[in-house]
Amino acid sequence: MTIRTVTPVADAPWLIVGAGALGQLFSASLARHYPVILLGRQSAPPAIRLRTSEGMDHQVTLRRERLSDWAAERSRNEPPALVVLATKSHDTQAALDALMPRLTPTTPLLLLQNGFQVQPRISEHWAGPVLCASTTEAAYRPLLDPESELYSTRPDVVHAAAGETWIGDLDDRHPTLAAAVAECLGKAGMTATPCLDIRQRLWQKLAVNAVINPLTASHRIRNGDLAGPEFRPRIVALVAEIGRIMQAEGIQPPATGWQALIEGVIEATAANHSSMLQDVLAGRPTERGAILGPLIDAGLRHRLDTPEIIALYQATPH
Ligand SMILES: NC(=O)c1ccc[n+]([C@@H]2O[C@H](COP(=O)([O-])OP(=O)(O)OC[C@H]3O[C@@H](n4cnc5c(N)ncnc54)[C@H](OP(=O)(O)O)[C@@H]3O)[C@@H](O)[C@H]2O)c1
Repeated sequence: MTIRTVTPVADAPWLIVGAGALGQLFSASLARHYPVILLGRQSAPPAIRLRTSEGMDHQVTLRRERLSDWAAERSRNEPPALVVLATKSHDTQAALDALMPRLTPTTPLLLLQNGFQVQPRISEHWAGPVLCASTTEAAYRPLLDPESELYSTRPDVVHAAAGETWIGDLDDRHPTLAAAVAECLGKAGMTATPCLDIRQRLWQKLAVNAVINPLTASHRIRNGDLAGPEFRPRIVALVAEIGRIMQAEGIQPPATGWQALIEGVIEATAANHSSMLQDVLAGRPTERGAILGPLIDAGLRHRLDTPEIIALYQATPH
């Protein structure tokens, strides 16, 4: 397969699809260095107000378009060097389908989704390279009452915590492209590392998200509340089921074990609203299918009982 090299000086734009928290964070970071087009569902002014992880407010001007306009070629439409899909997992295939008529079939994709649902499906069906990212960058869109006096000066996106992004493809066929993209992100100020076996990273993150996100979303509590003794038996039972699935899937456990890893994240992010809780509070669909669905499917595949995971799936808003 021919791989188009993505270089920092490429004239071709990076298409970032999904003007949500991560899409705006990536766009604002990259637009200072590379030609970027941010595609959203609605039209928006050509600027992003970003509150950095150091608490500074910056306005970044960039090209923004409605996805439907770009796809219909109502605007100048040069082939992108890379398409970064920054939608929620359940929206990603539809967004890609909408772009498909305007993309050459070998255009490289970068998937930013959590979970492990859209990654294998798109990797199997897309003719070009499909890179997947596992990122610990944390960003959110502030929810503010339009009547609030802070509303007009609110940032569009808050970079809550700087993290690290690992990039690779599920079959390890595109290490050069993964390294080039990671280098571009690095030049844009993000910490990014090319990675062989990105599947390990995606499942390891899924293991943590599968406990913290659904429990906090269904109980409408902050991450740190999960350290309370009333949650311990349930978390222990969930971690036991998840650990068995990870072992059956060949996913390396962390050196300290899954329980200690998850308790560590609960402690380190105690004050946070998980992304799934933010979705519930904003009335958006959650990613329960992308995060708990692969565990339930893997349990069936390996003939492992997963009553706690299934009960959690049923209790989690969707
Ligand atoms: N935020 C984080 O810190 C973070 C960290 C790691 C991983 N992730 C993962 O990154 C992905 C994106 O998360 P997020 O927090 O950025 O979500 P988000 O804030 O909900 O943003 C998703 C965006 O996608 C847009 N969208 C949906 N369908 C679309 C379509 N067909 N065409 C164009 N735009 C479309 C949505 O538009 P509307 O606004 O019109 O709904 C929304 O703006 C998720 O899978 C998440 O798990 C996020």
